[in-house]
Amino acid sequence: MMEKKNLDWANLGFGYMKTDKRFVANYKDGAWDEGVITEDDKVVISECAGVLQYAQTCFEGLKAYTTEDGHIVMFRPDMNAKRMADSARRLEMPVFPEDKFIEAVAKVVKANEAWVPPFGSGATLYVRPYMFGSNPVIGVKPADEYQFRILVTPVGPYFKGGAKPLTIKVSDFDRAAPNGTGHIKAGLNYAMSLHPIVTAHNEGYAENMYLDSATRTKVEETGGANFIFITKDGKLVTPKSDTILPSITRRSLCYVAKEYLGMEVEEREVFLSEVKDFAECGLCGTAAVISPVGKIVDHGEEICFPSGMEKMGPTIQKLYDTLTGIQMGKIEAPEGWIYTVE
Ligand code: PLP
Ligand code: COI
Repeated sequence: MMEKKNLDWANLGFGYMKTDKRFVANYKDGAWDEGVITEDDKVVISECAGVLQYAQTCFEGLKAYTTEDGHIVMFRPDMNAKRMADSARRLEMPVFPEDKFIEAVAKVVKANEAWVPPFGSGATLYVRPYMFGSNPVIGVKPADEYQFRILVTPVGPYFKGGAKPLTIKVSDFDRAAPNGTGHIKAGLNYAMSLHPIVTAHNEGYAENMYLDSATRTKVEETGGANFIFITKDGKLVTPKSDTILPSITRRSLCYVAKEYLGMEVEEREVFLSEVKDFAECGLCGTAAVISPVGKIVDHGEEICFPSGMEKMGPTIQKLYDTLTGIQMGKIEAPEGWIYTVE
């Protein structure tokens, strides 16, 4: 039995901690090399690298867990592999082959076994694959050389206070344009969200609700998670939009709601004007898991959900318990959802 690192697992926040090993592969002369696991956490690239000049970079986020019987598992890494390929294509970057992506992710997790939080600790190992243009470009064009890396870091809850309902605001800033890059995990989407999130935090809000930039009437997502709503008659409603990130957590929750909990699920346009009629609201994502929202403030007007500010609403709690039960191996998973790291 490998010895776990001596960390205060239960009190970890969502932060970076340097672990022992990472994966690095390079793309040059039109091909990816095999890649290696290395202890070197430093990146050395040209001062004029595509990523530094024109933000040519994309990333992914997934988690590894320890199950009750002591296995290390990952949740749907094939979905991250596919989404990263979609992101790469949209940014004119070479695709890192999806099967190699899954293998590499498993290899890094295995190499950092001592950093995978124990079962029941409340923490998980966050896995961050990312890719960037590494050779010099000065005219606006794609790089010719790229680096693909995977780092891992043990994390606790994304939002301080764990599962306490959040207060968020309707943002005046837009996250994504029609026909833009909102549907991929491009670094640039997060760079543009820094000013809005700092503004929201300074005003005392945990996150921003972004609206569709074309009409500013429809709910999109937050800076790092998709929305789910529960209607008063117990349906799950989630925004459908071409300009939001297709969350793997959200897609999994829709399946869980239907197939495990017998709920009705509607993926459709959601207007800001109807949000006040929902019974519960949550943010879902790898980092966020499902974080309940208690209140949304729209320019001074408060939308308070009946589930209140003390705890998750009952339906979101059920969804949370079922999804995390599946992820941690306590509830039988749908075929192919759980990847065991050998
Ligand atoms: N939306 C945005 C903007 C995100 O950054 C994330 C995080 O990955 C999500 C939604 C949730 O996606 P997933 O459930 O695949 O982690
Ligand atoms: C994730 O949930 O994996 C993300 O990438 C969201 C990010 C805001 C941490």
